[in-house]
Amino acid sequence: MRKKFLVAAIGGFSLIGAAAIAEDHHDHMQMMSKMARDARIEVDVPDPMKAKMLENMRGHQQAIAEILAALAKGDGPAAAKIAEDRLGMGSPGSAACKPNAKSGELGDMPKMMASHMPDEMRALGMTMHAQATKFAEEAARVKQGGDLRPALAELGQTVQACNACHAAYRLD
Ligand code: HEC
Repeated sequence: MRKKFLVAAIGGFSLIGAAAIAEDHHDHMQMMSKMARDARIEVDVPDPMKAKMLENMRGHQQAIAEILAALAKGDGPAAAKIAEDRLGMGSPGSAACKPNAKSGELGDMPKMMASHMPDEMRALGMTMHAQATKFAEEAARVKQGGDLRPALAELGQTVQACNACHAAYRLD
């Protein structure tokens, strides 16, 4: 009887022990997988805002595609207009990256987004918007049949500015 109890007790304890080790292992694995995934900084934003930010991002990507299509036709001014309206310093989406994000065309969203983004991230955003404006200025000068290379160089820098932020931050 006593022996049976002892066996049961040892069995019970080792079960608890095993569970604790398993739990520990699980936490550890979770942590490891988070760390191993990549070295980007996770920016915590509420889900609706995340959806909005990613929608903006897909809009950025679409703008780049349309800019390239315009340049393929040799139409610098058309490319310039897309860049300035959708990516440049005057674009509605740039509001959230500006130092004093104010409510504007997009309502309170930019101000709310600004409050969730680290300053360094917003600075990277500003670099991209400023670079897109630089591209727009260069592209606007291209005459039909003219040299696209200076504009393309600025566009390359713009995409590099996208990449710089993507290398540093993720949303989850
Ligand atoms: C200030 C930072 C920043 C800049 C600048 C930036 N992005 Fe992003 N972008 C992000 C973050 C953060 C994500 C989410 C990445 C993640 O969670 O893995 C993202 C995601 C995306 C996605 C994926 C969208 C989806 O639905 O999942 C696309 C496409 C994208 N960006 C395009 C661009 C393009 C094109 C540019 C430049 C014209 C750009 N981004 C500039 C921060 C930035």
